[in-house]
Amino acid sequence: MPETLTERVHIGVLVSGSGSNLQSIIDKIEAGTLDAVIRVVVSNNAGAYALERARKHGIPSVVLDHRDYPDRQAFDEAMIAVLREHSVELVVMAGFMRVLTSSFLQAFSMRVMNIHPALVPSFQGLHGQERAFRYGVKFTGCTVHFADEGVDSGPVIIQAVVPVFDDDTAEILAERILKEEHRIYPQAIQYYAEGNLEIAGRKVRLKRGAKVEYKALHNPPLTRF
Ligand code: GRF
Repeated sequence: MPETLTERVHIGVLVSGSGSNLQSIIDKIEAGTLDAVIRVVVSNNAGAYALERARKHGIPSVVLDHRDYPDRQAFDEAMIAVLREHSVELVVMAGFMRVLTSSFLQAFSMRVMNIHPALVPSFQGLHGQERAFRYGVKFTGCTVHFADEGVDSGPVIIQAVVPVFDDDTAEILAERILKEEHRIYPQAIQYYAEGNLEIAGRKVRLKRGAKVEYKALHNPPLTRF
């Protein structure tokens, strides 16, 4: 039986820039592997390439320039109104460079996801990839989490780990991380769409469980032990 629109989670995607995560969500929806509908893309930046991506795929978009509003509260209220007009259930922040107010988070309580290009709580905030690189970690990665009032600090839904190699540059590492972002974000949304996420305080679990194949990773490799 063909799926109807009502079985798909209605999402609104908040963007500020390139929108490669938006693109990966669009691609998975179009491939039929992600049970979601993008009802609207909202950008605070009229020049964001993400808007072009939305246009190419016939997805409605709205620009709300935060500089046109007297304060964060007024800006967030305008966003809430747009998201409600488009009957958005789940808000997906994808490279959206603004911190949300508590009123916004209350309006969409535990229905706002964010992606961060590091393994939180490490390297939260801007330039997580480059800061991990400079720190000299041997593994880093990316995290999808529910948004709270802090910066990249809400309950973690899913993480991916990537190694850092000796001959990496910060750019090569950022690319490696981004590739995984494009996999874990659609997956987190799909878990939500399936009604499979259970939140208990800081812990987000899969209601229907899942076996995680586990093998410890070492970088550099263990040669003797
Ligand atoms: C990604 O690295 C994301 O983790 C961070 O900003 C970047 C956005 O990339 N929050 P894009 O706009 O999705 O290409």
